[in-house]
Amino acid sequence: MSTERDAPFLQVQGLGKTYPGSSEPVFNEVNFGIARGEFVCIIGHSGCGKTTILNVLAGLEEASQGTVIMDNREVSGPSLERGVVFQSHALMPWLTVRQNVAFAVKSRWPEWRTEQVKLHVQRYVDMVGLSPAIDKKPSQLSGGMKQRVGIARAFAIEPKMLLLDEPFGALDALTRGTIQDELLKICSATHQTVFMITHDVDEAILLADKILLMSNGPVARVAEVVRNTLPRARQRASLHHEPGFYELRNHLVDFLVSRSKELSGGRAPAHPPEVRPADAARRAAGPTAEAAEPANDAPPPASPAASVTPLHRVA
Ligand SMILES: Nc1ncnc2c1ncn2[C@@H]1O[C@H](COP(=O)(O)OP(=O)(O)O)[C@@H](O)[C@H]1O
Ligand SMILES: [Mg+2]
Repeated sequence: MSTERDAPFLQVQGLGKTYPGSSEPVFNEVNFGIARGEFVCIIGHSGCGKTTILNVLAGLEEASQGTVIMDNREVSGPSLERGVVFQSHALMPWLTVRQNVAFAVKSRWPEWRTEQVKLHVQRYVDMVGLSPAIDKKPSQLSGGMKQRVGIARAFAIEPKMLLLDEPFGALDALTRGTIQDELLKICSATHQTVFMITHDVDEAILLADKILLMSNGPVARVAEVVRNTLPRARQRASLHHEPGFYELRNHLVDFLVSRSKELSGGRAPAHPPEVRPADAARRAAGPTAEAAEPANDAPPPASPAASVTPLHRVA
């Protein structure tokens, strides 16, 4: 029998969604878990239900079947325990960067004094390298800067879980790379638990500990859980030299190209197997590569924003 300590931080059980007026579920029997401090990406073709799942995790949408348990409590309705970053930045255009972040901080801690809110906001704006633009309004910022404000706002409420829906999808490749690097740094410093939707396999390999592969809809499922065993200290510029990188990448691309379709219509297993496509190549490469494999247990908690060096490269 599993005890509370064994249960994953987030547990999704038998989740299904059928929209009114539709005869078939978008997805059903979706089962997966997320450990505390784990960075999980979900990949699947457009329309398979990724955003719907994220909205259910956020408590913004109700599932037709199944349950979501976070930290031993069932998710029902939105909560400041979960921070969401949407594909479009969703900032309030009449407020400055500082005011946008402060609005969220004040909602989270209404009892805080003005000075405490101010310091907290400055810390998180600084973390995403936006201090020089803190008193600007969204219309004065580039797309990359706006997305950074969204990230600062989500981190600033110190959520138990961060939910990201293709947060960099609308950005150019250069800006996206810079912000990915920042997110990587912030997450390794804060051990934030993250669930992120992406359609970019390289982004998933760079960021994720675990990649959930979704079959196509209708009746989509999480068909497979891919463990990313490339060493955690990842650099975008050199990651493709890591033993196992191409095996992992090819596995993800093959799924998207053919298996996602073969497993559509409810043909994927309800309880997805976990695979480790990089392992064989890492073993073959010798003890140095193997030793670099990350431990699978959750990292120790750290204070949010601790030891993060702000990057002042503003996209
Ligand atoms: N509010 C809604 N009402 C009816 N159908 C919806 C609604 N939202 C999403 N859908 C349908 O559900 C499916 C999954 O949508 P979505 O979760 O946005 O997928 P993804 O994020 O993977 O592209 C799509 O076929 C979409 O048309
Ligand atoms: Mg979507």
